[in-house]
Amino acid sequence: MIQFKQVKKKYNNLEVIQNLSFIIHKNDVVGILGPSGVGKTTILKMIAGILTPESGTIISHVKRIAYVFQEPRLLPWKTALDNVAIPLLPLGYNYKQAKEKAAEWLGKMGLRGYEGYFPAQLSGGMIQRVSLARAFAIEPDTLLLDEPFSALDVRLKEVLLNMIKEQLKAAPITVLYVSHMPEEVVRIANRIFMLFPEGTMEEMSVNIGESFKDFLKDAFYKPHAGDAGLACNDTKQRESYACM
Ligand SMILES: Nc1ncnc2c1ncn2[C@@H]1O[C@H](COP(=O)(O)OP(=O)(O)OP(=O)(O)O)[C@@H](O)[C@H]1O
Ligand SMILES: [Mg+2]
Repeated sequence: MIQFKQVKKKYNNLEVIQNLSFIIHKNDVVGILGPSGVGKTTILKMIAGILTPESGTIISHVKRIAYVFQEPRLLPWKTALDNVAIPLLPLGYNYKQAKEKAAEWLGKMGLRGYEGYFPAQLSGGMIQRVSLARAFAIEPDTLLLDEPFSALDVRLKEVLLNMIKEQLKAAPITVLYVSHMPEEVVRIANRIFMLFPEGTMEEMSVNIGESFKDFLKDAFYKPHAGDAGLACNDTKQRESYACM
């Protein structure tokens, strides 16, 4: 369980998150949508304990968090295999076991044959997949994904989304999945949080039975508190998804 109670976060004078409250239950798969700069990464970093809020409370009952950062954070001097294997060592795996597990996850990510490559020898999409392999390999109970597919082509994204969906079905964990792409999020999330430029958040209804078009209409065109019907005549709103 992860709970935010009236959390506020500022960077200098910039109020990014205002009075944010939510509860994420064990094994919820939460999609976080919102325009660029709205505070999505900031929320993940607060959950991971990398950032602390100005005020409010974060209650977190998680055992092991894996975080796939928005910008790749592989060790450049280590191979793809070692990048996935090394985080397993403090978890009690010996090096041989760690490499076996790493190879298994790289394989699931379609990277068989690239185990010995260094990050500089991999494409952006391959690096993202190594990061995903590293996250899944530690068997987290909570997985933070910050735009994990931004460098992948449509076909590969499809394959990996299906893979992750199957994985979550077989071994449910709590997932927070940040994306700019509603059609990605709706594929695996059972809850959707929509962040707005004024630092507020609204949970959108996800009715998987309804048509995707209706879902988007609901999620992105729905007026929200304090908003004059999202008339798209305000620059801030126009820049947001709500007025796309
Ligand atoms: N370390 C920092 N110092 C100052 N300002 C920051 C810092 N990190 C983020 N910000 C600001 O906070 C706001 C939210 O940033 P954040 O990275 O959380 O947005 P985001 O929703 O993840 O955006 P994107 O979709 O582009 O990744 C932005 O205006 C950004 O400039
Ligand atoms: Mg971000």
